[in-house]
Amino acid sequence: MRFLAIGLSMFVAVAVSISTSVSVVAHDETSNHSHDSVAPPENASIVDKRIHRFKQSGGAIQSIFKEHLGADDFGAIADAAKLIGDWAEEMPAHFPAGSESAGARAEIWADFDDFKAKAADNAMAARALQKLAMAGTDKGAIAAAAKKMGGTCKACHQSYRNKK
Ligand code: HEC
Repeated sequence: MRFLAIGLSMFVAVAVSISTSVSVVAHDETSNHSHDSVAPPENASIVDKRIHRFKQSGGAIQSIFKEHLGADDFGAIADAAKLIGDWAEEMPAHFPAGSESAGARAEIWADFDDFKAKAADNAMAARALQKLAMAGTDKGAIAAAAKKMGGTCKACHQSYRNKK
């Protein structure tokens, strides 16, 4: 089955309960497991909105590695990659000048073009994964693309994210 009828929040809820043993993605990309709803609260601050989206992205990538690859559920991988790609494309707009936070390093605004480039790398890797997963024919290539996408999360975090 390509497209599951159940909502993403269900995948995420399941992903949360699974123990951490996957080494292809660094823990800081997947360590936050709070995914109660898909839409951020309307009146949330820009910082809260982006943190909410990052948490969803973390849940999505975790579900890929901990559930969907093992289950050959390529439709679910495509859905998770779409969520990640959609967020990556909107990410820079959620970092307006002056929106400092504990998790965001000041370097983001010192070289915003580089920050945008790293978000674009993430988006491109997510779209590549989405496309392969939708084709659903080459599990090895799908797994490699998922791993590569995880690398683009890490690349940005190394430069621009403070661990809490
Ligand atoms: C272009 C840069 C960039 C990319 C790409 C990126 N992140 Fe992040 N991420 C950040 C920054 C900056 C923060 C801190 C935001 C803040 O606290 O205001 C963050 C925070 C997070 C958090 C913590 C949210 C919380 O609970 O505070 C998670 C989880 C996360 N990212 C996951 C991911 C995943 C998974 C990917 C890839 C699919 C990814 N990120 C890609 C920059 C990035």
